[in-house]
Amino acid sequence: MGYLGYRKADQVLISSLRRLEYRGYDSWGIATAGSDGIGVYKQVGSISEVEAFDLGDSSLGIGHTRWATHGAPSEINAHPHLDCNRQWAVVHNGIIENFLSLREQLRDEGHRFVSETDTEVIAHLMEKNGGDLEDALAASLKELKGSYAIVVMGAGERKLVGARYKSPLILGVGDGEYFLASDATAILEYTNRAVYLEDGDFVVVTDEGYRIKNQGRNVEREVELIPWDPADAEKEGYDHFMLKEIHETPRVIEDTLLGHISETVDLDLSLAVGTSEIVFLACGTSFHAALLGRYIIEEVADLPVRVECASEFNYRKSPLNRTLVIAITQSGETADTLQALRKAKSFGARALAITNVLGSSVTRLADEVIYTRAGPEIGVAATKTFTAQLIVIYLIAAKLSRFSRTEMERFLLELRLIPEKIQRVLDNADKIQAISKILAGYENMMYIGRKIGYPTALEGALKMKEISYIHAEGYPAGELKHGPFALLGERTPVVASVVRDETYDIMLNNIKEVRARGSPVIAIADEGDEEVEKYVDFVIKTPEVESIFTPLTHTVALQLLAYYTAKERGCEIDRPKNLAKSVTVE
Ligand code: F6R
Repeated sequence: MGYLGYRKADQVLISSLRRLEYRGYDSWGIATAGSDGIGVYKQVGSISEVEAFDLGDSSLGIGHTRWATHGAPSEINAHPHLDCNRQWAVVHNGIIENFLSLREQLRDEGHRFVSETDTEVIAHLMEKNGGDLEDALAASLKELKGSYAIVVMGAGERKLVGARYKSPLILGVGDGEYFLASDATAILEYTNRAVYLEDGDFVVVTDEGYRIKNQGRNVEREVELIPWDPADAEKEGYDHFMLKEIHETPRVIEDTLLGHISETVDLDLSLAVGTSEIVFLACGTSFHAALLGRYIIEEVADLPVRVECASEFNYRKSPLNRTLVIAITQSGETADTLQALRKAKSFGARALAITNVLGSSVTRLADEVIYTRAGPEIGVAATKTFTAQLIVIYLIAAKLSRFSRTEMERFLLELRLIPEKIQRVLDNADKIQAISKILAGYENMMYIGRKIGYPTALEGALKMKEISYIHAEGYPAGELKHGPFALLGERTPVVASVVRDETYDIMLNNIKEVRARGSPVIAIADEGDEEVEKYVDFVIKTPEVESIFTPLTHTVALQLLAYYTAKERGCEIDRPKNLAKSVTVE
């Protein structure tokens, strides 16, 4: 964050950093520049535990909330970092890959380093290069390798300078005040007007305005309206953002459908013309959406689909020419997904992105973008954005299908009914919470499913492990007997996503096998399914939908199951340990 305007900078920075905390939260710090030089305050831990402090009346400052990559979380390692003479202060996201050699060189020249971070080299490089703030940073950038969003200020100049390369940075434009931030939620309280900076952009902000250069040339960038309401970034009475965001799912689905369907699907998929297959690239929860996309598109559109884990795609040789590649990333900033997409494009693939964030990096890389309209997601665990991604995938499948008019109408009608059905899952939260109270006492769990129940199981397990810290594995139900059976027993409950399609009978068999090995079983199943309850310990019933849509209803039930289990265990639900919302490093 950076602020230059008329308000007390330390207060603006604290309040904005609170909203950015979901990006990193092991330590934080701010610095302001006034007539008596640069004042700094740093603290380990959460910004919500801020102690009373006052950095004076300065209306110019920078701040950062950290997720440690180089050096443990500590006050010394927290940003901002300063040079030896406290002339420059720097905050930085990303990684300076050549920092070790730069640090050695600068040390030899007499610079004293206090932290273990890569960021500190930037302050010392600026000191070495000298000149005014702009010149010092511009010269230093030439020596850096890696990725960065950097904001700097100096002791004697009323100016902020920012630079972006492969890490997001936006400029908020208020009335007589400016903000530099790594995402829009940080500035929404003050302004909804923003410039989404591009790679290579170098922005200089003063009281008179701002100017942007790229490769030494002045460039004009449009000021865009951030399409989010400040209230979207508040808990609004819920105990956690995660619960609020799960409860927003019905609305998010309606918003995502709106504008994309009328009597038919209104999506421009001209990129898909002539493609022989679709390749999905994604990480984490978005990867699970992609795995579901494989079943959905193959079933509905009869087109072969490959799913590649983005962080592994770099090591693949397979050519992709004339292929449609779809990158799924809610943040639009996941470094692995961006890198995989660059590689796919270098193979000649056409690129479509599904993302939730306007102006994010993926929107610049892709040839076309389809937005999920989920609003900001603050809880680190992805919930509403996952369901919104699935909605877009259903629409893509329908668009690519050879549906007759009646089949299309029926498919779209089912989709329109989903929000109301998900609302009924949410209304059943008490029952899910009661089961969670029991699950909270276990340390290992297994999630199983077949066909579309399988990625649903993977996602259920991911939600459980990341927020409750219970070791949870997702498996295709058919794989259990190839090894994981050895882990079953009364201390390992199994959650089964039971779908009434061609997998139903064999799934019941698998459940019986699991039960026979002593594991308690919790099934997620259709309301109309009266058979399954004979074989399991607990059933969470979800409203009946056509089998292909069950991942939507089942996932919301699984999200609630994870949420209440984590709550019962007293976990930090919105900010699980060691995780950050946007993973901007590979
Ligand atoms: C899990 C979760 C992560 C993200 C992953 C990709 O709840 O949130 O696994 O899904 O880091 O993030 P995006 O979708 O922003 O690329």
